[in-house]
Amino acid sequence: MAQEGNGNSSRCSSHNGDNGNRWSLQGMTALVTGGTKGIGHAVVEELARLGATVYTCSRNEAEINECLKDWKSKGFRVAGSACDVSSKSEREKLMFAVSSVFHGKLNILVSLTRP
Ligand SMILES: NC(=O)c1ccc[n+]([C@@H]2O[C@H](COP(=O)([O-])OP(=O)(O)OC[C@H]3O[C@@H](n4cnc5c(N)ncnc54)[C@H](OP(=O)(O)O)[C@@H]3O)[C@@H](O)[C@H]2O)c1
Repeated sequence: MAQEGNGNSSRCSSHNGDNGNRWSLQGMTALVTGGTKGIGHAVVEELARLGATVYTCSRNEAEINECLKDWKSKGFRVAGSACDVSSKSEREKLMFAVSSVFHGKLNILVSLTRP
């Protein structure tokens, strides 16, 4: 089930920098796999900061929920759910969730899970 952040958290934090007016992704949708840590986490924040609505996943549901809370507290539009992308059935569930949340429109795909 797709979930959205709804509170404050300190674990998944990063700086809320000023992106100026150089780029805008307002109205765009993005799927970032592996968004709870490392490069994926930074990509989620950057896309959301630029105005995109983002969906992300990782295998650890508790970590996703912590990140979603943190992103919500920053005003970012990010949803997510647990998914092991090495599993075909889980990928199919992810696609169903993403399609549902984004009403069938996906503009950006960033795959940052290790093979
Ligand atoms: N960091 C570098 O210097 C570097 C250099 C070159 C290439 N890369 C590549 O860039 C990608 C990201 O690297 P990183 O250093 O940011 O990795 P990382 O810090 O280990 O983060 C990986 C993210 O992907 C998730 N993940 C891993 N396996 C998954 C799976 N099967 N299904 C769903 N989510 C999964 C992890 O969460 P869970 O573990 O909770 O699932 C985590 O959110 C990798 O493909 C890596 O090979 C990294």
